[in-house]
Amino acid sequence: MSEQRLKFDTLAVHAGDRKSTGKWTPVTTPIHTATSFFYSDAADLDRVFAGELEGPSYSRHGNPTNEALEELAATLESGEGALACSTGMAALNIAILAALVDRRRVLLAANALYGATINMLMKVLEPSGVEVVWADFCDEQAVEAAIAEHRPGAMLMETISNPLLRVAPLDRIAALANAAGAQLIVDSTFSTPLITRPLEFGAHFVVHSLTKYLSGHGDVLGGLVVANEPNLVPLRSLAKALGPLLGPFEAYLAMRGIKTFPLRMQRQCANAAVVARWLAAHPRVARVYYPGDPNHPDAGHISRLFAPDLFGAMVSFEVKDAGREEVFRFMNALRLVAPATSLGDVHTMVLYPLIASHRDLSPKHRARMGIGDNLIRLSTGIEAVEDITADLDQALR
Ligand SMILES: Cc1ncc(COP(=O)(O)O)c(C=O)c1O
Repeated sequence: MSEQRLKFDTLAVHAGDRKSTGKWTPVTTPIHTATSFFYSDAADLDRVFAGELEGPSYSRHGNPTNEALEELAATLESGEGALACSTGMAALNIAILAALVDRRRVLLAANALYGATINMLMKVLEPSGVEVVWADFCDEQAVEAAIAEHRPGAMLMETISNPLLRVAPLDRIAALANAAGAQLIVDSTFSTPLITRPLEFGAHFVVHSLTKYLSGHGDVLGGLVVANEPNLVPLRSLAKALGPLLGPFEAYLAMRGIKTFPLRMQRQCANAAVVARWLAAHPRVARVYYPGDPNHPDAGHISRLFAPDLFGAMVSFEVKDAGREEVFRFMNALRLVAPATSLGDVHTMVLYPLIASHRDLSPKHRARMGIGDNLIRLSTGIEAVEDITADLDQALR
């Protein structure tokens, strides 16, 4: 199959599969549960360990089910290879370690990031000797100045920031990183490769929480790192040393999920556009954050970086005059929308950043990021959109 010429939706269904085992070829990749593999000639196993012959040896070094998923992920993200990890956090961690392996241990991070990512930078990486510096990645001049001042070895950003849905100029940030010899790591969980592919803009590592849109059904915890050749070497060698890999059962489920991901994502994006418009007109809603809003502060970057008419399926909103108690009341009143801690699934969910994604940050830190006590983050599912808005309406009243 000449995969490069096929369209994205076709690749999502076929890439990575159809590995022949001799006379027959399974249409989908089976779950390889074996932890170790042997060859009829021990010399071949020796060559596999030496990297001279392709094939599995020990599952921490690579497993055929994971490899099929990795090939699929790399194809969708326009990368040369990928690593499937046990969680999105494990993927972020190993991407940062790989990016800094031969560079100054200084990481320039966007100040709008997922709370657990901020926590990892401040509580794990800084104490282990990585200097972490911060900048507003939506402000190119601030990024340029931070690069000149701190000379980072790597930089970290999200395509759509969590939870205020800002979109930084990824292409320009990548150009700045490349000019400075820094590696750019992009968490693309919220946008997915259907909407934007950071490696095509010059980024060096793309990270996903596989738990979200790509798997999509709320039943897999996983992560992905996608990269190009020179960076795949430290990535794979660190993976062998640290062992953060995804299990083959989850790899199978994730791959099964990805086959319908473009269909789901298109429906989720369309539903989000309707929900955002509906929320903006609701008397109990003070403010809506949505990348498809023509007045979005980053509308110029969005039209340059995103596929036409796809703005992601996340909508955040502030409830008028609400605090923790009113938000809890709203969450408790929901009957269809799940007040559950995740995003990207087929079912619509709301999350309260104050108690979930950004709970580990101090109130001052949250306030500095613009995350108020009345902010709710909504992940739109594939349900009939009238049912979603009807449920939000009865819970808001
Ligand atoms: C943007 C983003 N990156 C990374 C993660 C971490 O993913 P996981 O929960 O799979 O470790 C999350 C989780 O919500 C996320 O929202």
